Amino acid sequence: MPSPFDRLCVAREQLQAYLDTAIALAKEVGPVFKDGFWRTGQFAAGNDFAAIDKMGNEADCVTAVDCHIEKVIFSRLREIYPEHKFVGEETTAEIGNEYKVTDDPTWVVDPVDGTNNFVHHFPYTGISIGLTVNKEPVVGVLYLPILDELYTAAKGLGAQLNGQSLPLLNSPALTTPTALSQCAMLSEHGSLRSESYIKSRFDTFQRLLLEKEKGGASVRNLRITGSAASDLALVAKGAAEIYWEAGPHAWDYAAGVVLVLESGGAVFDGAGWWGSSIPEDERSLQPLNIWKRKILAIRHMPDLPGKPGSGHEIQKQLAADVLNLVEDASYEPDGSH
Ligand code: IPD
Repeated sequence: MPSPFDRLCVAREQLQAYLDTAIALAKEVGPVFKDGFWRTGQFAAGNDFAAIDKMGNEADCVTAVDCHIEKVIFSRLREIYPEHKFVGEETTAEIGNEYKVTDDPTWVVDPVDGTNNFVHHFPYTGISIGLTVNKEPVVGVLYLPILDELYTAAKGLGAQLNGQSLPLLNSPALTTPTALSQCAMLSEHGSLRSESYIKSRFDTFQRLLLEKEKGGASVRNLRITGSAASDLALVAKGAAEIYWEAGPHAWDYAAGVVLVLESGGAVFDGAGWWGSSIPEDERSLQPLNIWKRKILAIRHMPDLPGKPGSGHEIQKQLAADVLNLVEDASYEPDGSH
């Protein structure tokens, strides 16, 4: 029987070594992150820790800590894996979107996901390190230093939070909701502020929240953490059922999708499905596309008693219900293909 590693041509030991490297790097930069978190301020203009807006948009900002952490992570990775490729939020902000997405092992890094949270001392912010091989996300590490949470996963090796397997709960405590009105949802409003964008996003939120009689889904709750990577970690943990967003970048979710998949969850990228719960003939044959900037993730759903396969059927139904209600805008893909 073929193992999940065959298609990737990556030995299990190699994947474990990549994961260990990512964990070591996240831990190495953790103290700088923590120090910066308490010293950086949105309004600390003029000092070394000030938040600088990108392209005149104060909602989309960068700090010296973002740039420093990305440099450290990439210089260490280049020493260890000189033949690999590297895509990072801050490098891309400097050089633009012209890089080519290839099959080579590619480290996709957000040195501070949730920069807005970082400069407002809101704890959902962390270092996100993902790795793709043959374009497929295979390693994901998210370290949230302020919450002291280290999420780790690699393809076929499971997902963990501080060493404990994800999801943290198993059935019967982890139940299977059968309608969106029983689901906790996560989404983001992103950093764009144009009228058309804000209207479209809030129309989506309205449809998700509105009572069923008026055509809405009446979701049990809708939360915005300000960090796409944290949203995916919360789905992997089992703290929310669903995360949907359109518009985030590859570095925001490259690591998080591996956490969700390895915790038994399912991911839809706008074109296909991935996840161990999904029957083989329904699984996408393409690598999960993290460059198209569309993401829907659903947590592990235990099968209903006496109904094998029902967990996935419910994942699919909930996903279809969400996709029916959310905006379907296109975003410029990350990188060239
Ligand atoms: C942002 C966060 C946010 C998402 C934005 C991202 P950053 O990342 O992940 O949740 O909605 O689209 O840009 O810029 O803080 O690293």
